[in-house]
Amino acid sequence: MSRELFFCTECGYESRKWLGRCPGCGAWNSFASAPGPPKKGRTVRRGASGAAPVPINEAAAAVQVRQPTRIAGIDRVLGGGLVAGSVVLLAGAPGIGKSTLMLQLAGQLARPGSPVLYVSGEESAQQVGLRARRLGIDRPEVLLLPETSCPAVFGHLEGVNPAAVIVDSIQTMTVDEIDAPAGSVGQVRQAAARFQELAKSSGVPVLLAGHVTKDGMIAGPKLLEHLVDVVLSMEGEPGHDLRILRAGKNRFGTVAELALFSMTDHGLEEVHNPSAWLLDDRQAGAPGSAVAVAIEGTSPLLVEVQALVTPSRLGTPRRVAQGFDPSRLALLLAVAGRSTGAAFGERDVFVNIVGGLSIREPALDLAVTAALLSSAADRPLPEDLAIFGEIGLLGEVRAVSRAEDRLREAAAMGFGRVAIPARQAEAGEAGEIVRIARVADLAGLLRPA
Ligand code: TYD
Ligand code: MG
Repeated sequence: MSRELFFCTECGYESRKWLGRCPGCGAWNSFASAPGPPKKGRTVRRGASGAAPVPINEAAAAVQVRQPTRIAGIDRVLGGGLVAGSVVLLAGAPGIGKSTLMLQLAGQLARPGSPVLYVSGEESAQQVGLRARRLGIDRPEVLLLPETSCPAVFGHLEGVNPAAVIVDSIQTMTVDEIDAPAGSVGQVRQAAARFQELAKSSGVPVLLAGHVTKDGMIAGPKLLEHLVDVVLSMEGEPGHDLRILRAGKNRFGTVAELALFSMTDHGLEEVHNPSAWLLDDRQAGAPGSAVAVAIEGTSPLLVEVQALVTPSRLGTPRRVAQGFDPSRLALLLAVAGRSTGAAFGERDVFVNIVGGLSIREPALDLAVTAALLSSAADRPLPEDLAIFGEIGLLGEVRAVSRAEDRLREAAAMGFGRVAIPARQAEAGEAGEIVRIARVADLAGLLRPA
């Protein structure tokens, strides 16, 4: 008999009884039941890999074996390729491009003598085959297995000795011991645990696709985070081609790197010059447009910030931010209103980071505020101006990190002028540097309408 357990579908918190509110993450109504693991009697548990204690000064010598995926952005985000025996979860909203990326990865990883097993629980072999054709993947070493049962998958592994196992998606996989539908908390946990065991015991890396659901009804990647070694999340705005890949967790590397891809007719293509890509449709010279120099991951990145400030017909004017923290926007509006007298109180305010990228970096403050003031005054900023700097509550402009890299990127993208915090330590060569001490100084940058 297995006893019943309850899990928070948001964060994986485990409890013997159902709880209305999760003590782990505070989510309401997020608990779902799942059978616990069957009791096996009291045996001393041996390590699955039979590992013996190792002196700590010798531990580093056991070098991680990494397999490059031959997709540069993914290798960078992973920290140099797939680690042998690791489990990587690729999480993202339905339709974002997980299956596309997984199939492209399969095509890159498979080589004669080291095939890749692509387990498809969602689509038929024919559907995946059609997609592969569209993506130009015709390697016979990509072995397609339409299957949803974990034991059946493991049965096919013998004798295959794959370079990697790809599972699309973990929500479709089932184990026999659990009497619950695919996608339920118990099934997803157990299936993921099985693949984790498989990876650890065989050294074969396993990639799991996992859907992110907002309603928390389906056991989501939050629940899986604890069970895998690396979580890659794929983001993007509906209607935009840009896809952003970041590591939310990485046991074998940093979480700082990100990779940008563009969804094309023949799959995901890495964007090698993100600044150029993001500034492609820039509305240069239009009031409300500003170019910010951000640092995303470890690289500087130029993005267009657009602001629209219009008279409001509502008692409480609207504040809408896309790709930017709404509470940060509220703060910037308060500071800018106070410092410059601009009357934001009776106006609707919209801010958008163009391209669908979401940026949470204080260094964007100055560009966002410049765009707001530009729209409010209906006066454009100079076309060749790029901007970075953080804004404090008193309207002061504060220095930010990595000014040198930001200036270099702005110069490389042809920006002749860069507005930077007045207190920023000197920062390498660039065109003209405009030092900004206070928010009110931004008004001096606006050109006549
Ligand atoms: P998909 O990889 O199926 O998403 P997921 O597995 O995350 O649900 O991608 C779905 C979308 O991608 C779909 O709207 C079609 C689009 N797409 C392209 O634009 N180009 C392509 O080459 C492919 C394969 C898909
Ligand atoms: Mg899919």
